[in-house]
Amino acid sequence: MYIDCTGKELFVFKKISNAAEELQMPAFIIGGFVRDKIIGRPGKDVDIVCLGDGILLAEKVAERFSPKPQVAFFKNFGTAQIKVDDFEIEFVGARKESYRSESRNPTVEPGTIEDDQNRRDFTINALAISLNKQDYGTLIDPFNGLADIEKKIIRTPLEPIQTFSDDPLRMLRAIRFSTQLQFEIADNTFQAIKDNKDRIRIVSQERITEELNKIMSSRKPSLGWHLLFTSGLLRIIFPQMVDLAGAQYIDGKGHKDNFYHTLQVLDNISIHTNDLWLRWAAVLHDIGKPATKKFEEGHGWTFHGHEVVGARMVPKIFNKLKLPLNEKMRFVQKLVELHLRPISLTKENITDSAIRRLLFDAGEDIEALMLLCNADITSKNKFKVRQYLTNFELVKKRMEAVEEQDKVRNWQPPITGELIMETFGLSPGRKVGLIKDAIREAILDGVISNNYNEAFEFMLQKGKELDLSPVT
Ligand code: CTP
Repeated sequence: MYIDCTGKELFVFKKISNAAEELQMPAFIIGGFVRDKIIGRPGKDVDIVCLGDGILLAEKVAERFSPKPQVAFFKNFGTAQIKVDDFEIEFVGARKESYRSESRNPTVEPGTIEDDQNRRDFTINALAISLNKQDYGTLIDPFNGLADIEKKIIRTPLEPIQTFSDDPLRMLRAIRFSTQLQFEIADNTFQAIKDNKDRIRIVSQERITEELNKIMSSRKPSLGWHLLFTSGLLRIIFPQMVDLAGAQYIDGKGHKDNFYHTLQVLDNISIHTNDLWLRWAAVLHDIGKPATKKFEEGHGWTFHGHEVVGARMVPKIFNKLKLPLNEKMRFVQKLVELHLRPISLTKENITDSAIRRLLFDAGEDIEALMLLCNADITSKNKFKVRQYLTNFELVKKRMEAVEEQDKVRNWQPPITGELIMETFGLSPGRKVGLIKDAIREAILDGVISNNYNEAFEFMLQKGKELDLSPVT
């Protein structure tokens, strides 16, 4: 076998080989599994292409296992899938496209293994391994995909224009593979992406976002965002991100390029977390800057309120990108809104009350917020960065001390609304809310401690101010 396989994999491949032999139907392992084996990435999805009916081969393979796995098949596509152990094996018949004179649209019909390899997206994804008796285990590599893996190149097997017009999502796939594998995209392939970028509009948002999330989950996601930007695809699929790019100058004063700053923050945070949503928070943390940008005489560039405007943009962006509109979105929104708070605490004399408020507002997401803030420190001035980081550590220590003492992070009101109603004989209404809020504010401001007795006393006093007296 050309590729290194585990004993279990060889066992499964032998069964496929025998079933194919019995049917006199040549079969090959193809695509991502072969690529990943050569690169040394683990993979559990195996694609098998055969010269015949993929569903029939899947059935024959399934019969060779006990217990016999279920064959899930899609008649229209001629594909079938079985699961054995933790492998997912997909079977499909080799196909080719042919153009008939009376129609401009291609028809797909049975083809050879070469025809099938021709139709694939990249040379590194068109590698096949024979499962047939006469040349079992040999590599079939008509487009020098192996050499491209060695040279770390993403290249289409045919003229890129043809490959991309078969499925324009492949333009994004090129960028995604380039990011995941840290391979370069060949010049002519990248040029074709630039030339055909508008064709991405016919691809569904779900497929686009799946690729974006794969880029986001890569080790260095900025590589992908940079390519999306320079190819022109980003302007089409996520224009708000492009609005961050560039630096404007007035009276010789410029601001930083917020696009590249954002990418730096994203890479910084990706060193510390694989959490997709925290990474999205990094992408979106300054998204409100273009809308709030102002040049103030004698002051320079300001982006007042960009965190609030940015947080308001999050649901719209999630909706457009078809990202989930659930607690993940609210988490991102909260982080965008709070992203300046820890940093602002490093600048002035910090009061316990400011720290308590931050702990209260961030709640269980405080660690995520601190990671984001840390990642946001990207100044080129090393001295400034060191100073920020030192101050930042101080803020963290103070936070620990305040939390230790006041426990406001997962704050539960020490006095409930029910108790307020019971004490003053009230029914639900405005006054109950007023007293509850006043207790919370008093605790956050440090006027009273976060405990039942002090809160109860405070409630009685507040009641008095509202002309309420306790019912006995
Ligand atoms: N393929 C293609 N064009 C596409 C999608 C897929 O040519 N738009 C081919 C490629 O040969 C690819 C194979 O189908 O290797 C399997 O596709 P998929 O499972 O999406 O990708 P993988 O290459 O397996 O990689 P990953 O699992 O990382 O997505």
